[in-house]
Amino acid sequence: MSLLFKEGKIENLKLKNRVVMPPMCMYKSDKSGELKTFHKGHYLARAIGGVGLIIVEATAIEPRGRISANDLGLWNDTQIEAHKKEFINSSYTRAFI
Ligand SMILES: Cc1cc2nc3c(=O)[nH]c(=O)nc-3n(C[C@H](O)[C@H](O)[C@H](O)COP(=O)(O)O)c2cc1C
Repeated sequence: MSLLFKEGKIENLKLKNRVVMPPMCMYKSDKSGELKTFHKGHYLARAIGGVGLIIVEATAIEPRGRISANDLGLWNDTQIEAHKKEFINSSYTRAFI
């Protein structure tokens, strides 16, 4: 089997394979920076499709850090909880910001 589909590891993080989805701006949030229904479907589809690690687009840790008005944000507890729910506990894939 190709090495691409074998388990991978980054430090202590185990990956089910070495397929990594690079960051790509989706421009589907809004001023709030919150995850929308679009993101849930978009990333879940890739996760179920088999991607071992998803880098979650251009996600900014403060509003002024965004490179477009519709990028995701990770600067308040609501956003953090949503990301945890969608990505961190996912049994399908792993996620980086
Ligand atoms: C925050 C961020 C956002 C990005 N958004 C896009 C994007 O919307 N479209 C795109 O083609 N590449 C985007 N890129 C670049 C890709 O992630 C990737 O690095 C690029 O396509 C080159 O891939 P390669 O190194 O495998 O050739 C983004 C990169 C970063 C860091």
